[in-house]
Amino acid sequence: MRKTRILSGMRPTGPLHLGHLHGVLKTWLELQEKYECFYFIADWHALTTEYENPENISEFSKELFLEWLSVGLSPEKSTLFLQSAIKEHAELHLIFSMFVPVSWLERNPSYKEMLQNIQNRDLNTYGFLGYPVLQASDILIYKAKKVPVGLDQVPHLELTREIARRFNYLYKIDYFPEPEPILSEVPKIPGMDGRKMSKSYGNAIFLNDPPDIVRKKIMSYVTDTQRPRKSDPGDPENRCIAFNLIKIYFNSEEREEIVKDCKNAVLGCVECKKGLADKIIFELEKIWDRRKEIEKEDWREMLYKGIETAREIAKQTIEEVNTIVFRKRII
Ligand code: TRP
Ligand code: SF4
Repeated sequence: MRKTRILSGMRPTGPLHLGHLHGVLKTWLELQEKYECFYFIADWHALTTEYENPENISEFSKELFLEWLSVGLSPEKSTLFLQSAIKEHAELHLIFSMFVPVSWLERNPSYKEMLQNIQNRDLNTYGFLGYPVLQASDILIYKAKKVPVGLDQVPHLELTREIARRFNYLYKIDYFPEPEPILSEVPKIPGMDGRKMSKSYGNAIFLNDPPDIVRKKIMSYVTDTQRPRKSDPGDPENRCIAFNLIKIYFNSEEREEIVKDCKNAVLGCVECKKGLADKIIFELEKIWDRRKEIEKEDWREMLYKGIETAREIAKQTIEEVNTIVFRKRII
């Protein structure tokens, strides 16, 4: 039996941090063992917000690809590719845009939220409004059945399903499947200041931070503020931001030990965070080591391989879509 096809994308808008690693990439890694996975760099989507300063997108795209390989995504197991290398996404986007009502796009909660949140850029563009139409094309061109995404992307996926339905209804054919989201349990990854880890908040630990920077950043995590001295009993579960990372990096026995010693006021925060930094650096070292290996290998060839695989399927879909839409083709 054929494996279920999964697809997801990431926008190349900056270096990856621990939030991406635990929130997204770990899920992708698991899925790659069981499914036919398509993962791509959504550089056209990056352009929807970065069109005024697009010069970094290609560097970020290369970085993203190298980081993917470094964390263990494998071109042997998954199809890894670059969106803008497959022009068929754009062709399908164009066709969809003919029949997607503007009102569907305007009422999309992610759209409204982004317009409000991003103040330093003019996002009143045709392309930004059509962001979910391009996303629907990314997914439907491969007829992916499942899409691992965060909660924030669920409205986009609902639109993808509506677009698939509308295509099938208009052209009286059961052609596009309706993809389902895969919403995995994502651990909370706060940055140093306690807010969600994000490049724009300046509170992120990046995968390519050198060890001394990682250590410094961990030491600056806000811990139990009602515990100025080691001799004050702490409350890790409710009052310590660093504890969210401790939960990820220590096994349950080690964790219980930390909780006990913190509550009993025998473990100080400096010592505790030193241990945490060691664990994080230990894990990152594996990624850094692999990264060195990958830089010696022909990673471009690996990207081409994914592009070839993706392109073949995308071409076939576009061929079929054009036949369905135009009924009779003149050439
Ligand atoms: N919009 C997604 C994000 O910002 C990225 C993306 C683009 C995507 N196309 C996709 C995700 C298709 C899943 C499927 O995270
Ligand atoms: Fe948090 Fe560790 Fe300090 Fe307890 S000892 S408050 S768990 S950093």
